[in-house]
Amino acid sequence: MAASGIELRGVSFGVAGKAILSNIDLHLREARIGIVGRNGSGKTSLMRVMAGLVTPSDGTVRVAGLDPARNRRAMLSAVGILFQNPDHQILFPTVGEELAFGLTQMGQSAKEARAQARHLLAEVGRTHWEGVATHTLSQGQRQYLCLLSILAMRPATLLLDEPFAALDLPSQVRLRRRLAGLGQQIITISHDPTAVAECDRVIWLEAGRVVQDGPAGDVLGAFTAEMARIGGLDADADLSG
Ligand SMILES: Nc1ncnc2c1ncn2[C@@H]1O[C@H](COP(=O)(O)OP(=O)(O)O)[C@@H](O)[C@H]1O
Ligand SMILES: [Mg+2]
Repeated sequence: MAASGIELRGVSFGVAGKAILSNIDLHLREARIGIVGRNGSGKTSLMRVMAGLVTPSDGTVRVAGLDPARNRRAMLSAVGILFQNPDHQILFPTVGEELAFGLTQMGQSAKEARAQARHLLAEVGRTHWEGVATHTLSQGQRQYLCLLSILAMRPATLLLDEPFAALDLPSQVRLRRRLAGLGQQIITISHDPTAVAECDRVIWLEAGRVVQDGPAGDVLGAFTAEMARIGGLDADADLSG
């Protein structure tokens, strides 16, 4: 059987001598996985390691059996990343160009990519977006454009970093519906338990380590109780280091 999913073995990651992730062992194969933890617990760093955007200080990462750092091109169809801030992702002045770019990266000609971009917009009822300047879209719309760009490349796994954090309630409902209908593996990172309550598996990170890993109900129950306990304290004294 071909290697599948994302596998981390003994992964540690540090910056300037500070440990950010410590000894993480995970094999992520379930269709819907949530990663929770409070601010600064290492969620975004873990996502960057999983996608091969940064190399771990120790341990190994395999995505569909491949080392992401050495297989950049294969990673385009293996993982699609939705960054928390769409402005770190959007590169082009218009929606049509932004969508077409990923497709040319996948090997399509400029003409094919433009036609495909138009088709993708038509599929989601947004043909009128093609020539729209990306900076005139709202934050939620820019995030949706990023999601469309990623989906256009048909990656096997989607890595979503706080996908609901900047969205108003109708946009959250729409995004949840859109994600629920996708056949891909989806790994959702969030500080918010409700964002991952429907997942097959939830992993709780604290200070760069896995605290708990299991069914959503069990992990989120313990996580929510602990967050309430910490919130009852005057300050996050333990985060000062
Ligand atoms: N490039 C970096 N340089 C220094 N510290 C970093 C860097 N990236 C992350 N950190 C630190 O690592 C910790 C985890 O950050 P992050 O992964 O962004 O957490 P989360 O996404 O859970 O909020 C934080 O203490 C953050 O300040
Ligand atoms: Mg983060």
